[in-house]
Amino acid sequence: ARAALGKRNLVLIGLMGAGKSAIGRMTAQALGIPFIDSDHEIERVSRMSITDLFAAYGEAEFRALETRVIKRLLRSGPRVVSTGGGAYINENTRKHIRRGGLTVWLKADLDVLWERVNKRDTRPLLKTENPRQTLENLMNARYPIYAEADLTVLSRDVKKETMVEEVLA
Ligand code: S3P
Repeated sequence: ARAALGKRNLVLIGLMGAGKSAIGRMTAQALGIPFIDSDHEIERVSRMSITDLFAAYGEAEFRALETRVIKRLLRSGPRVVSTGGGAYINENTRKHIRRGGLTVWLKADLDVLWERVNKRDTRPLLKTENPRQTLENLMNARYPIYAEADLTVLSRDVKKETMVEEVLA
């Protein structure tokens, strides 16, 4: 798998809670290449949390920064890059992602996603009156776009290792 990848990046896309970071980290380890999470990189360069960035500058500014960070991360492959849930949905960012590597969509159903994001308070987009409904709306809007990915892996109740093997295969 490592040889087949060449200098291309492997980019994980999908909704919050799908497991992009966990699966990305393990896949990178298996391939022996670096792993980077775009949200972490955004937090590092801005020296702010995603929550604070949204609060201080709003989503549009966040997306502009996200585009720049992801573009730069993809410049020196091969890497495994996990992206924030909205990255691939942004037309500009999507262009860079499609140019920069192979895309893997971690697809999960609403119950699985909800179970995972529900416990944390780090998703500004879900600070709504009915966050579960918001998540469902995001699913409906985004799934047709994620579906363009080169590879779709179902994120479900199997061992993470099994999902990593699917990606590598
Ligand atoms: C977002 C997902 C988050 C983060 C930001 C916006 C989105 O990343 O980038 O809160 O638009 O879905 P995760 O998918 O890693 O939670």
